[in-house]
Amino acid sequence: MTTPEVDNARLWSSLMTLSEVGRYTDERTGLLGVNRLALTDADKAGRDLVKTWFEQAGLTVRVDRIGNVYARRAGRDDSLAPVMAGSHIDSVPTGGAFDGALGVLAALEAVRSLNDAGAKTLRPIEIAFFTDEEGARFGTDMLGSAVAVGRITLQEAYSLCDETGTSVQQELSRIGYLGAAEERISPPHAYLECHVEQGPILEAAGLDLGLVTGVQAISWQQLEIHGKSAHAGTTPMDLRKDAGLVASMINLRMHEMATSGNYGQHMRATMGRVSPVPNRVNIVPGKVVCTVDLRNPDDASMARAEADLANYFDELQQSHGVHIERRQTARTDSVTFDAKVVAQVGQQMQALGYRHEPLQSGAGHDAQEMASLCATAMIFVPGQYEGISHNPREYSTPEACARGANVLLRVMRNLADEA
Ligand code: GLV
Ligand code: MN
Ligand code: MN
Repeated sequence: MTTPEVDNARLWSSLMTLSEVGRYTDERTGLLGVNRLALTDADKAGRDLVKTWFEQAGLTVRVDRIGNVYARRAGRDDSLAPVMAGSHIDSVPTGGAFDGALGVLAALEAVRSLNDAGAKTLRPIEIAFFTDEEGARFGTDMLGSAVAVGRITLQEAYSLCDETGTSVQQELSRIGYLGAAEERISPPHAYLECHVEQGPILEAAGLDLGLVTGVQAISWQQLEIHGKSAHAGTTPMDLRKDAGLVASMINLRMHEMATSGNYGQHMRATMGRVSPVPNRVNIVPGKVVCTVDLRNPDDASMARAEADLANYFDELQQSHGVHIERRQTARTDSVTFDAKVVAQVGQQMQALGYRHEPLQSGAGHDAQEMASLCATAMIFVPGQYEGISHNPREYSTPEACARGANVLLRVMRNLADEA
C-alpha cells in the first residue's frame, strides 16, 4: 500500500487564505495578525470558508448544538467508529495563522490527498473543528470539545457570557452555528491532532517534529477583588483598601511560587488580565478583575499550589480589608496520550526521516478532551522565533507544516484501515 503525500502548496495556500479572515494590523509592530475570537463575525466567516472547503472535498458536514463542526468521509464499512482528526479555528484576539488552523487544515489536506489518490479507507474519517478552544472570550477553554465528551454540560456552556454579558447561546444563534446535531459524540476509533508547538523546545533542539506524550494540568480562575476607591493624594496609606495593590501582591506570590521549586520544576503562573476600576492615575482602585492561569505537569503539585494560593487570598482579605470573589473558569488534570497511537505516530516520523523527540504539551488542546473518549495522540510542528504564539509573529515554515500533515495522513490512514 503506497501512501500518498500531501500537496505542500495546497496546504500552505489554505493556511494563508484562512489567515486573511479576521486579519488585522498590529498597531505597535505593523505585523499582520489574526483575530477570530470565538463566535464573532470573523469566526463565522472562518467557519463558513472551511465548511465550504469540506463540502468541496466531498465531505458530509454536520453542526452540533454547541457549534462544533464535523466533516465526514465515508468508510468502506460506514458502521465502524471513525478516525477523527481536528483542532479549532477560533483564535485569541492577537493570534497568528497556525494555532488551531493547522490541525484542521492539515486534516483537510490529508483527506484531499486520499481523495486524489482514490484511496478509500475501511473506517470513516471525520475532521472536527471545535467551538471556542481558546477560552479567550467566554473564559473557559476547550469549550466545544469538553461539551462533546460530556465534561461540561450544554446548558453550562450556553450560559457562559463574555465581558459584555452576551452568552455563548446568543452568539451561536446569531452567527448561525447553533446546529441541530447531538453534541455528545460516540467514541471515535482514535483522535489525532496536528498543532504548532507554541514554544521554543523543538526549534532550539533543531528537530523536525515533536511527538506529544500528553498535556499538563491547567487551572484558571477569575478574581474580583473588592476594595475601596479613594483619592490617591489625600488617603493615608494605612486607611486604604487598595484592590490594585492586592492584585499585584497575588501576581507576585504566583511568580514566587512558580519559581520556588516547591511545586515541581515546571509550574507556570500568569496573571494575563488585570482590569482595575476606575483605572485612573490618581484614584486608588476600588475593584480589580483579574485572572489566574496556573499550569503544572504534576497533578498533586497543582492541587497544592491552588490550595496555598487560596490560603493567601484569605490572608489578604484579613490584612488588607478587601473581599476576594473567585470563580474557577477552567480546570483540567494532566493527560497522558495513548501509548499505542503515540508509538504509531513516532514510527511514521521515523519512516519519513523526520528528527523528533517526545515532549509534553505546555498549552491546552482539544486532544486532551478527546483523550477521555478514545485513543489520542498529537503531532507538534515547530514554530520559528522561539515558537512564539498567541502573537502575530507566530510562524511555521511551509515545509514544517507539510511534515506534520504527512505524518497525520499516514497515521490517519493506518488507523482508518484497522478493523
Ligand atoms: C490554549 O491556547 C492555552 O491557553 O493553553
Ligand atoms: Mn490551539
Ligand atoms: Mn491558542
